Amino acid sequence: MMITFEGIEGAGKTTQIKLLEKFLKKRGYNFVILREPGGTIVSEKIREILLDHTLDIENETELFLFLASRSELVKKVIRPALREKKIVICDRFVDSTIAYQSYGRGIPERLIKTLNNFVIKDIKIRRTYLLDYDPKNYGIRFNNKTKDRIENNDLDFHKRVREGFLKIADQNKKRFLILNAFEPVETIHKKIIDDLLKIL
Ligand code: TMP
Repeated sequence: MMITFEGIEGAGKTTQIKLLEKFLKKRGYNFVILREPGGTIVSEKIREILLDHTLDIENETELFLFLASRSELVKKVIRPALREKKIVICDRFVDSTIAYQSYGRGIPERLIKTLNNFVIKDIKIRRTYLLDYDPKNYGIRFNNKTKDRIENNDLDFHKRVREGFLKIADQNKKRFLILNAFEPVETIHKKIIDDLLKIL
């Protein structure tokens, strides 16, 4: 079963995934935690290129790099893990490409959906946790951190990405649970656990 976490930067996905990891370990579940872009040797190399703030990358190139990273991860890690009946938890997946590369960069959504489907084929995401907050508070979440190439985009970009995520969630109500990223970490964790236990 595949579970994904989505949201704009600084929403606390990583913190929530770490708490979930602890919980699943304690309960003895068979699971794997992955992140996109990344998770294989090639995908981690692609990640370095994608996030390097010294590089100027064209939007189309960026899209294909995310998809290339995903192709590796799907074939080498996700598909085998699902075959072994593991719970696959992924920090970002196909929805990030629609939110960032379509809503953020302006590449047609239909094209991205087609390419996403070409890469993931029959893989179905069972549940997606969207950690949401208004990016006008973006600065607060990022004080003093050196921003990577994508975090470096202006506020309007992050607003469009957030709107994108909310629209995708609205179109896939059964799959998504939207969580307010400004709620206390433990409160959000409990909501995720309560929800997940219904499907595990
Ligand atoms: P993060 O996982 O540390 O948040 O960094 C990944 C960055 O890549 C983040 O800015 C979101 C962005 N991204 C896309 O633009 N498209 C994608 O398809 C994925 C998976 C991530």
